[in-house]
Amino acid sequence: MRPTSGAPVTAPAVRAHKGGPPLVMVTAYDAPTARIADEAGADVVLVGDSVAMVVLGYDDTLQVTVADMAHHVAAVARARPRALVVADLPWLSYHVSPEDTVRNAGALVRAGASAVKLEGGRRRLPAVRAILDAEIPVMGHLGLTPQSVHALGGYRVQGRQVDTAGALVDDAVALAEAGCFALVLECVPAEVAALVTAGVDVPTIGIGAGPHCDGQVLVLHDLLGLEDRIVGRFVRRYASLKADAVTAVSAFAADVRAGRFPSEDESYRLADDVAAALDRPVPRTA
Ligand code: KIV
Repeated sequence: MRPTSGAPVTAPAVRAHKGGPPLVMVTAYDAPTARIADEAGADVVLVGDSVAMVVLGYDDTLQVTVADMAHHVAAVARARPRALVVADLPWLSYHVSPEDTVRNAGALVRAGASAVKLEGGRRRLPAVRAILDAEIPVMGHLGLTPQSVHALGGYRVQGRQVDTAGALVDDAVALAEAGCFALVLECVPAEVAALVTAGVDVPTIGIGAGPHCDGQVLVLHDLLGLEDRIVGRFVRRYASLKADAVTAVSAFAADVRAGRFPSEDESYRLADDVAAALDRPVPRTA
């Protein structure tokens, strides 16, 4: 859906893309990853709270704050991507009161996001409405919602039974009707994602939700193979950057230890007369 004119992607444009060619969303957490995502033509860059695990070394997403998220959103925004920058509202930033919710969403917009994402269904409608009322576009997130890991009893596929699948569809319809411009569906059976996609007039963006969504999202570090620890079956690795990086740093270490780095070409030299005046001749290396 990327416009060829160079105009930035907007939330209304994403919303209007329902039924068009699949949307592409990837995570980015800093300027270099935002540039990678943008130059590759992603439509949406998500500054996900997955930053907690992927970049900051925490065990779950519950540890990041609005300040942490704003720090990463600002770094992404400085890359000036054409892709729409969506920021995750972290856990507890939209659970306390509508005032608190709007203030936190506003902090992420001031940091550079053009929209925010929050997790949960009908229970989150007051938060969604408050943010929309402040003119900030909202992306919903249903299915496996990692901020609810303790309540869900772990990271599990959601909506596997008739009642839970039905509730997921009802949640999606409610969020779309409230005004969310798109919905992430995480770890739900493909049949349920297809039902949701057919049942709402906003794009669904799947992660572990099968092929019948209006778009797909992956965590950038997973698809690049920069993260090589736990991966879901829904992750396809398009590169092995962690292995490549270990090989590269090992080669650097070997060169340093063997005296092969730096070479003459990789060093700065004084002019001969200055070196002579200093009376400190330094031997040239190979
Ligand atoms: O934080 C994140 O990376 C996400 C994606 C998994 C959609 O929410």
